[in-house]
Amino acid sequence: MADLYQFRGEPEEPLDCLYVLNTSGSDPLDRLELPAKDRKALKAKAKALAPRGEEGELISGECPMKAARRVTFVGVGEERKLTHAKVRSVLRTVIRQAARNREYQIGLALPVRIHGLPDGESRLFTILEAALADYTFDHFKSKKNEFDKIDGMHLIPLAGETEEELEARLEKVRLFGGAVRFARDLGNRPGSDLTPEALASAARDLAEESSGIRVTVLGPKELTKEKMGGILGVAKGSAEEPRLIVLEHRPKKPKKSIVLVGKGVTFDAGGISLKPSKGMEWMKYDMAGAATVLAVMRAIGAMELPIKVVGLVPAAENLPSGTALKPGDIITLSNGKTVEVDNTDAEGRLLLADALAYSAKFNPDVVIDLATLTGACVVALGHEAAGIMGNDPELTDRLVKLGEEVGERVWPLPLYDEYLDYLKSEWADLKNAGSRWGGPVTAGTFLKQFVPENVSWAHLDVAGVAYLESAHNGFGPGSTGFGVVLLLSYIERLLK
Ligand code: BES
Ligand code: MN
Ligand code: ZN
Repeated sequence: MADLYQFRGEPEEPLDCLYVLNTSGSDPLDRLELPAKDRKALKAKAKALAPRGEEGELISGECPMKAARRVTFVGVGEERKLTHAKVRSVLRTVIRQAARNREYQIGLALPVRIHGLPDGESRLFTILEAALADYTFDHFKSKKNEFDKIDGMHLIPLAGETEEELEARLEKVRLFGGAVRFARDLGNRPGSDLTPEALASAARDLAEESSGIRVTVLGPKELTKEKMGGILGVAKGSAEEPRLIVLEHRPKKPKKSIVLVGKGVTFDAGGISLKPSKGMEWMKYDMAGAATVLAVMRAIGAMELPIKVVGLVPAAENLPSGTALKPGDIITLSNGKTVEVDNTDAEGRLLLADALAYSAKFNPDVVIDLATLTGACVVALGHEAAGIMGNDPELTDRLVKLGEEVGERVWPLPLYDEYLDYLKSEWADLKNAGSRWGGPVTAGTFLKQFVPENVSWAHLDVAGVAYLESAHNGFGPGSTGFGVVLLLSYIERLLK
């Protein structure tokens, strides 16, 4: 991640290039905190280069300010149409251009507003997109991507933005941005590299590095003792042992208690109900929910909130083999309910059920789970929103509104009682998969049976938003880290 600085006065070395975001219509240069002579010079330069501010436009010239060698005006289109995705996409273009030109220290003037957001939020999320724009996953490449070389981003303050205000924003962006990158890295790691134990080891490392986070990892012995037939069942076909990772942030006098649960299937081949091979490589990201929960816990320690936050990650690998679960098998989950496993590819709900039941131990007010749970949710909402289901309309509403604000959209789907009929089994209390119909909501209904009493619960099906096969909305291909900013913002505002 490039370092973030405030651009006040003159840097020791001139910056390689100053990038100025530019809308069509208004004059954003007035919104920058600049010495009068620099503003004047920049305006004259803009007049000479005559950028139109149209989306995708990049116009460069010599920088009239001593602080930078070059200046590039970057068009973002009409301001009232500016969304998170558009800002992300424009900043990605900036980084690509900077890397191509070997500009490793860049200035950023971001005098634009994301439509519909209060100024402070808009500023924060714009800087956050800048800090994420050079994200790349080249861990396994001998030749590193050019993006890696962007060293410093120097932000010009907005008019009236004090040094303290901007520094507080940068600090938060470092924290949130670091967490998002952490989640993306986990989501991009292949299955044989990121096994359930490797996920547990990542959790141990993050607990060691962040103050105020405790980690416990349950292995097969403990899982057997807890009668977690779901987690153990899913792992049966694999040579990799399952884990239940428990991360806890326990302040002295917590005012609220929240449990986050993340699906941690480190690879999902489908088990005996084997998936078709086309696209199966994507199933390395079936632990995206887990990645988000780990990333949130990594940041939460530093935020020092008087809220008990617990992260639960049931982790296993779903493979076919001579020891795997077979369709028709009946397993017993930790709350005593029996489940006929009709389709071994509907494995996420089995291990989540055990984790949801286990959450009762922490007396939560709120439980939120994130899971790449159904392909049908991708069919329904594409890559634009996660599906959200739950038992508390107030919680759902809040997350829908917040999602819009932070640029991680979630959209409600119903959990009608009738869906439970779809899961009736002849032989056990429930079966794990219904017919073709109502994929996301039957999965949500299954989970609902395992949520402790009197808990506000929301389930986010992130199958469509956690990972992209190709670049989209300003994201590069691969893991997006969806949910990290949404959950951190939710928890941060819980007491307000
Ligand atoms: N991990 C998959 C869901 C998935 C599919 C995530 C595509 C991301 C992209 C999940 O375990 C699964 O296989 N679900 C089945 C459920 C079905 C068997 C009831 C599905 O969606 O087909
Ligand atoms: Mn599956
Ligand atoms: Zn899965």
